[in-house]
Amino acid sequence: MTTPLRLGIAGLGTVGVGVLRMVRDNSDILRARTGRDVTISAVSARSRDKDRGVDLSGFVWEDDPVALARRDDVDVFVELMGGSDGPAKAATEAALAAGKAVVTANKAMLALHGQALAELAEENDAPLRFEAAVAGGIPCVKALTEGLAGNRITRVSGVMNGTCNYILTRMESAGLPYADVFEEARALGYLEADPSLDVGGIDAGHKLAILSAIAFGTRVDFDGVQLQGIERVTIDDIRRARDMGYRIKLLGEARRTPGGIEQSMRPTLVPEDSPLGQLEGGTNMVVIEGDAVGQVVLRGAGAGEGPTASAVMGDVCDIARGMALPPFGQPAATLQAPVRANATTECAHYLRLSLRDEPGALAQVATALGRSGISIDRMRQYDHPGTDAPVLIVTHPCAPGDLARALDDVAATGVVAGDPVALQIQTP
Ligand code: NDP
Ligand code: HSE
Repeated sequence: MTTPLRLGIAGLGTVGVGVLRMVRDNSDILRARTGRDVTISAVSARSRDKDRGVDLSGFVWEDDPVALARRDDVDVFVELMGGSDGPAKAATEAALAAGKAVVTANKAMLALHGQALAELAEENDAPLRFEAAVAGGIPCVKALTEGLAGNRITRVSGVMNGTCNYILTRMESAGLPYADVFEEARALGYLEADPSLDVGGIDAGHKLAILSAIAFGTRVDFDGVQLQGIERVTIDDIRRARDMGYRIKLLGEARRTPGGIEQSMRPTLVPEDSPLGQLEGGTNMVVIEGDAVGQVVLRGAGAGEGPTASAVMGDVCDIARGMALPPFGQPAATLQAPVRANATTECAHYLRLSLRDEPGALAQVATALGRSGISIDRMRQYDHPGTDAPVLIVTHPCAPGDLARALDDVAATGVVAGDPVALQIQTP
């Protein structure tokens, strides 16, 4: 048996405690699969006194995560604190500069600093692994960097935020208000320290940007992701979309087009009976399309203690086995500067309008849409107590730019109260 692999763990929250438990409970499996003992030398968190429900007495405590990262008895620095900058980045850089392996679940840090960190890792011949950063327990980074490495990837899409999927599905199924469902997601350990990253679509955008970089061999380009969160989605939208045969998901999509790379993360309608439409709770789904393999669908728990710790430990096992791979699947210096493409892919749209219930109002909306070449596929008007009628329109496929122009035109008619809600319907 070779020498043990010694971990230093910074961050003892949901994921950190999950990793402690896995190292403790699965030591026999880890030894059998890697040929080495996996041990923990030292840990760090903000508060030393907090009861975390696990025994920390066998580990050295470090107040400073950077000091932890530099310890001689640490072979792998496991960063589970979070935050794109601050101690997480400082300690990760310190570990890599010292030639130590780093495993992190920190998508915010990778989405904003992935290129610089990958370069630092390669300069120092230090592995940098981050399976847990994307879609929790689903091994999608491994799928792209290893199993599908021979393919030209054309599209990566999916649901990549457990909190948003939990909120959207649970509000509908349990008829619970947003605030109650939000607290349930917190209790399940799904939320980011700043939950606006979840509901604002930013966390999922970080994940998409990371997958997109691996898929297309480009530098991570989070600023190139067109982002929209779920804050404006109402229970009425959820119910009415269902009425039309759809469910609403926070759906990400990165595709290679002749004009460049298109990346978007936005609430999107998907057919109710499709695999995405059936996705409940904190479950994530990542769909990868390659020229040789066709479509590969990966589904599993996207957040929470066990699933995320599982992904962290997968990376730890690879390091214990001596597996070496550039962080983004190819040398950092060969990652191209991404060319951003405008979203030109045509798709159908769901529109929800509050329309003045008076003669000719609907005709004006239809005419405004028609002027931009937008054709109505289906339409429904609902009962209403006041003077404004809730109207739903599903369009035939149209370019997003044409729809934006048409909505300006619709607003100018003066027959619509407030801002219309416009959501894309997933293209096959
Ligand atoms: P938590 O908020 O539960 O835990 C964060 C931990 O980091 C806490 O133990 C905290 O200490 C410690 N910490 C925070 N700031 C510092 C600091 N400045 N110095 C030292 N320790 C610090 O987060 P999670 O476990 O949920 O998430 C950790 C990482 O994993 C994040 O990057 C997150 O995005 C990512 N992730 C989380 C998933 C999940 O399902 N929760 C899934 C996938 C990725 P203390 O406890 O003393 O406050
Ligand atoms: N907050 C994230 C989510 C954790 O809800 O998906 C997993 O990355």
